[in-house]
Amino acid sequence: MNKTVAAGQLETNLPSLVAKANGTVLEVGPGNGYQLPHYDKSKITRIYGVEPNVDLHDALRKTVKERGLSNIYTILPCEAEDFQTLAKYGIEKGSMDTALSVQVIYGMPSPQETTKGMYELLKPRGR
Ligand SMILES: C[S@@+](CC[C@H](N)C(=O)[O-])C[C@H]1O[C@@H](n2cnc3c(N)ncnc32)[C@H](O)[C@@H]1O
Repeated sequence: MNKTVAAGQLETNLPSLVAKANGTVLEVGPGNGYQLPHYDKSKITRIYGVEPNVDLHDALRKTVKERGLSNIYTILPCEAEDFQTLAKYGIEKGSMDTALSVQVIYGMPSPQETTKGMYELLKPRGR
């Protein structure tokens, strides 16, 4: 992400939206963990970062460590549409409290379908 986009995000309500994430969180496309500083750690029990680009995993792991989240963060090396792999990690219909994705959906081949799938992974009161 270029600096302009990153700086621009800080002027939107995005950081405060990310801070609302609670419970068990599915973050689709965390990249290098750019959104992690915005999480409110006191509300989170577990985060699954679904990041298919394994070249970003070292940087993501580093950010996770810096934020003190290593004990609750799991990196999943698959795409958000790979429900079979997600299920292996217990990510199934009605299992997540929060689903989060920033600057990812626009690049997906079937954004509506993927978004629908993400909603289905949420608990009834999930967000
Ligand atoms: C523009 S970056 C955004 C990174 C981060 N969310 C942020 O706010 O900086 C897009 C990320 O989405 C990931 N991505 C692309 N397609 C994906 C998919 N189908 N499932 C999960 N992640 C995907 C890419 O590997 C990349 O890390």
